Amino acid sequence: MSRVSEIMETMEYGPSVEDSSNVRDWLARNPAFGHFIGGRFTSPGKTFDSRDPSDGELLAQISQGSAEDVALAVKAARKAQKGWAGLSGSERARYLYAIARHVQKRERFLSVLETLDNGKPIRESRDIDIPLVARHFYHHAGWAELLDSRFPGYAPLGVCGQIIPWNFPLLMLAWKIAPALAAGNTVVLKPAEYTSLTALAFAEICQEVGLPAGVVNIVTGDGETGAALVASDVEKIAFTGSTEVGRRIADELAGTGRKLTLELGGKSPFIVMDDADLDAAVEGVVDSIWFNQGQVCCAGSRILVAEAVADRFERLLQTRLAKLRLGAPLDKSTDVGAIVDPVQKDRIVAICRAATDAGAELIGGEAGEGCFIAPGYLRGIEPANPGMQQEIFGPIATLSTFRTADEAIELANNTRYGLAGSVWSESATVATDLAARIKAGVIWINCANLFDAAAPFGGYRESGFGREGARIGMLEYLAEPAVKAVKEKPTTPPVASTGPDAGAGGGIDRTAKLYIGGAQKRPDGGASYKVPGGLAPLGSRKDIRNAVEAASKAGKWAAMGGHARAQVLYYIAENLSARAGDFAARTSKAEVEAAIARAFHYAAWADKFDGANVQAKAGHLVNVIPEPFGVMGVVCPNAQPLAAFMSLVMPAIAMGNRVVAIAAQDDPLAVTDLYQVFDTSDLPGGVVNIITGAKDELAPVLAAHDEVAALWYVGDAAGLTKAERAAGGNLKPVWSPENRDWTKPAAQGETFLQHATQAKTIWLPYGA
Ligand code: NAI
Repeated sequence: MSRVSEIMETMEYGPSVEDSSNVRDWLARNPAFGHFIGGRFTSPGKTFDSRDPSDGELLAQISQGSAEDVALAVKAARKAQKGWAGLSGSERARYLYAIARHVQKRERFLSVLETLDNGKPIRESRDIDIPLVARHFYHHAGWAELLDSRFPGYAPLGVCGQIIPWNFPLLMLAWKIAPALAAGNTVVLKPAEYTSLTALAFAEICQEVGLPAGVVNIVTGDGETGAALVASDVEKIAFTGSTEVGRRIADELAGTGRKLTLELGGKSPFIVMDDADLDAAVEGVVDSIWFNQGQVCCAGSRILVAEAVADRFERLLQTRLAKLRLGAPLDKSTDVGAIVDPVQKDRIVAICRAATDAGAELIGGEAGEGCFIAPGYLRGIEPANPGMQQEIFGPIATLSTFRTADEAIELANNTRYGLAGSVWSESATVATDLAARIKAGVIWINCANLFDAAAPFGGYRESGFGREGARIGMLEYLAEPAVKAVKEKPTTPPVASTGPDAGAGGGIDRTAKLYIGGAQKRPDGGASYKVPGGLAPLGSRKDIRNAVEAASKAGKWAAMGGHARAQVLYYIAENLSARAGDFAARTSKAEVEAAIARAFHYAAWADKFDGANVQAKAGHLVNVIPEPFGVMGVVCPNAQPLAAFMSLVMPAIAMGNRVVAIAAQDDPLAVTDLYQVFDTSDLPGGVVNIITGAKDELAPVLAAHDEVAALWYVGDAAGLTKAERAAGGNLKPVWSPENRDWTKPAAQGETFLQHATQAKTIWLPYGA
């Protein structure tokens, strides 16, 4: 035993291991688990081992869910759904509240179980994961209570399939289950195969609180079980995990009309400016990438530091790194625990090796015995190095430098992901400027990896779509107020017309052009096709590309601000009114009136679709800002060409997006007449670009384009399937509003604005 004087000399911590006897008793009583279906545990079927990654100890046998198990669970969920949705919001709130309470009562038990199963330090499961689980259920008990008043006209979706990863097992369960239940849905959840135990303990809590049977069902198993859930007839899939699997799910769901949210990977920037509090920033790195062994989707894994302070920052970083304690997860003084599984450890080691082979230097990061990897970072790393490009998902950051803020932003955004970012500067101007320019869903200013149920979380670009948490997260579990759907008439591809103009109108016939970058353009192929009133240009993939390029260049539109955009929209309304008679001759009076109404309506909204300052963590200003996507693709229906076009394009541009629209294929000339209206209304070139031609050929090209960040598609199921498949490549969200009577008030409103924006959550500590 060490003498006190020796301890005083080294100031070493002695071991302080959390008592795990309760959990071990529970495991001894439950050596093998079945699934939780219809309120009861099934008998264990074919099983696999669940082990403590820190020492390989066998914890329990977990059942490998088959397609039949999934079908039974979906059936139980479906049976329970009507009754659950039939309860009042207040009644559902009581259950969610009871769950929160029970989680709190079993906080110690759940923390220890999570740490044994996952390998994360007990300090993290005890102080972060499990308290946030309880917080999530409390918050959503509140949404259940307020559902009718805050979401009038909305309805639950039905049965939700939910697939979660292993990095925050119980917390991800809470993120998924709490909003689903609050909204009146029932769920089938599949935990990750490495970490099923806290989900099964949660099932016991559902029994304890008397949750009606079938409201929550848990089917364990690996990716095959997940795939069976995706293939089942649930109304929604919510997935958190790798981008690769997310992409596969998006492809599978294309054209099914089932709702999808994806929370995928990231390679988030961590920017340290030259005026940052460097000590605080170093602590930020600890919280960013060495927290949870770096197995965090929003980890600030790319440290970018201003050249002027880089040496000093790195010295401080190394000093701090040397003090981190790697070891037994149950020891209360452990900072870095075990990687979840040998498979993941090997993956991390392989990426680090590829990075060093490509010339980077690894500081720390030694792979130890078992599932341990020491925290570390890669320095001297080029942008093209695999360590810089791939999500390492381990306790290894990259460290590189920049000279100017512009360069920092360029490096920060040089990724296909867009989940999060952390910026460090003592200047509010500099920090908020960076926050605005990073393309990501969550930005932490002078802080890192903070989470709360009231703060929306989710990504841009290939980090997925949809948000979890807050009011906006609830929308992902609710069906929009129903509108009377009008069946879209099927179209046949237009045929190039070779003869002289032969439209219906005799003398007034003419050949319209495309509208690209604010100018009328002949189609690339030079061909046209017959439409009522004349000839329309037959656009091609080259025209789509040109239009997207023009739209990309018109980025100033977003920076103009809502007030300035409103002026333009009012002007469009005014100029359209002045020419109402001409347009009515092409279409109908009702359509022209609707078109004018849309321009007025969204001019009004342009400076009023507010974000929110949410009640997340005390002492933090947490702002949720609806940002435009950038370039949006809009594929219009065939009927009511003018009213539909304006109903879809005006909300998109009011929010600051630029649009490439495919106008009604069979009758586009009322839309091509709009060019003159736009030209005389100060609409900057490139904000609206219009292509005519074969809808089913053009839409997938638009959907697949990397620069197009979101797609709206109104049309038949076959066309939508093709467009959704094409959009899945780079994981852009696709919204397919019902085709409807576009002259009616149901063709406008907040729903359109919601789908024209993506929420960015910015955390700023103040007064804390
Ligand atoms: P994964 O994406 O395979 O696993 C996540 C979940 O999806 C698990 O529950 C798994 O069983 C399930 N799954 C796997 N294949 C499926 C399929 N075809 N259909 C439906 N569900 C399926 O991730 P994995 O292999 O565990 O980790 C690989 C990498 O993914 C990590 O190194 C990391 O880069 C990333 N990842 C990202 C996470 C995040 O939070 N964004 C979480 C976990 C992993």
